[in-house]
Amino acid sequence: MTEARRPHSPVLAIVLAAGEGTRMRSPLPKVLHEVGHRQLVLHVLDRLAALAPPPSETVVVLGAGRERVEPVVAAHPLQPRIVEQQTRRGTGDAVRVAMEAVSCTEGIALVLCGDVPLIDPADIDRLVAAAAEEDVAIAVLGFRPADPTGYGRLVTDATGALVRIVEEKDARADERRIDLVNSGVIACRIPFLRQALPQLRPDNAKGELYLTDLVERAVAAGRQARAVAAADPAGLAGVNSQADLAAVEALFQARRRAEAMAAGVTLTAPETVHFAFDTKLAPGTVVGPFVVFGPGVVVEGPARIEAFSHLAGAHIRDGAVIGPFARIRPGSRIGAGARVGNFVEVKAAVLGEGAKANHLSYIGDAEVGARANIGAGTITCNYDGFAKHRTVIGPGAFIGSNTALVAPVVIGPGAIVGAGSAITRDVPADALGLTRAPQEVREGAAARIRARKAGSRKSG
Ligand code: UD1
Ligand code: CA
Repeated sequence: MTEARRPHSPVLAIVLAAGEGTRMRSPLPKVLHEVGHRQLVLHVLDRLAALAPPPSETVVVLGAGRERVEPVVAAHPLQPRIVEQQTRRGTGDAVRVAMEAVSCTEGIALVLCGDVPLIDPADIDRLVAAAAEEDVAIAVLGFRPADPTGYGRLVTDATGALVRIVEEKDARADERRIDLVNSGVIACRIPFLRQALPQLRPDNAKGELYLTDLVERAVAAGRQARAVAAADPAGLAGVNSQADLAAVEALFQARRRAEAMAAGVTLTAPETVHFAFDTKLAPGTVVGPFVVFGPGVVVEGPARIEAFSHLAGAHIRDGAVIGPFARIRPGSRIGAGARVGNFVEVKAAVLGEGAKANHLSYIGDAEVGARANIGAGTITCNYDGFAKHRTVIGPGAFIGSNTALVAPVVIGPGAIVGAGSAITRDVPADALGLTRAPQEVREGAAARIRARKAGSRKSG
């Protein structure tokens, strides 16, 4: 590929997120609501980070709920600059506040919304490339929604060139019939932006400074404006209400399921499997119905995740079988061929190769050696009410059913723990540990009890 044909990249990205999100009717700032277990605004930043090369500088404009949004945004690898728009005077004003915080004078600025999380980076590339064409000052990503109500309409002239964006509230009846709308994603030449922003006036129905008025300004200055039709209009769906959030989540899930299957993962009932933004499943993995992946799950080699299992923060090796009805919590590593069966909860624990915990157990803050067998009902008592403690179980150890392992405690390699024990002291390698009370057997006692009870029932 020649230098000239490489996709253009924005020098500066501006993410608008100062809105209050009142229609969410939630105490959480809108952009902190999650899709695929990741905050909306972080999805937008992820998509910017996916551009090649990513923007040299990224600015996020915050307003309402700034104290809560700022730490989330600041932790993103793009290291965005955060600016505050004190009063909500419109999208044009928000961009003005962002531009005052940066010193760049050349190149292309890209404006996106913090509540449009699934935008396709390929559409961003096409938009920025259009803005980089000769004589073009501004390019707008447009699409045709099923219902254009509420969107700004892209007004074109007889030649099809973009001449103006008219907001719904300011539009005439004939303009409202235009079905090509503004997605809110705009790429603009920085010199033009710096020169035109101070010229915006709040002479409109909302009394705001509209970023969209830059199109008219560009045309008036003898420059060109471009409307770029999105190749992925579904990805431009914005989140304004809880119903929108659910719709965007559904789209995200549908895409992740399709991607997983395309990559060789078997989903027995795809529509019931729930992914997180970072779920990684090796080809050949089989996922049963109603499996939920929280953040941070990596299945490294083909494994089976059986129905109704819930996993988060887990690393799983090839040949492992999880579930049905298993819960794997953060900090867990499940070795090759290991088994975690029904109603077993694993938290911050390592299970070695071929280790088994097949039924009704809690394995927390623990290390379980290769091929160790954890009997049904085994509990690692990791918390004494003050601090967490570790349990270490050596390779090949056998833990009898209904055992309480009171941590900190070490069960040596090859050791056996008798069923029903409460283990409070270490059991050395190849030793037997048990705390069972001696069993009593009273010959004929059951018959005598029955006779006595039957007698009292007759007389009573
Ligand atoms: C805007 C566009 C409209 C487009 C639509 C797409 C303008 C004037 N209109 O309309 O053409 O079809 O988005 O969704 O640009 N924001 C701030 N500060 C403000 C105002 C807004 O940061 O002072 C942020 C909001 O948080 C939001 C974005 O800018 O992320 C869009 O603002 P919003 O008020 O939702 O604009 P719309 O009326 O939807
Ligand atoms: Ca909006």
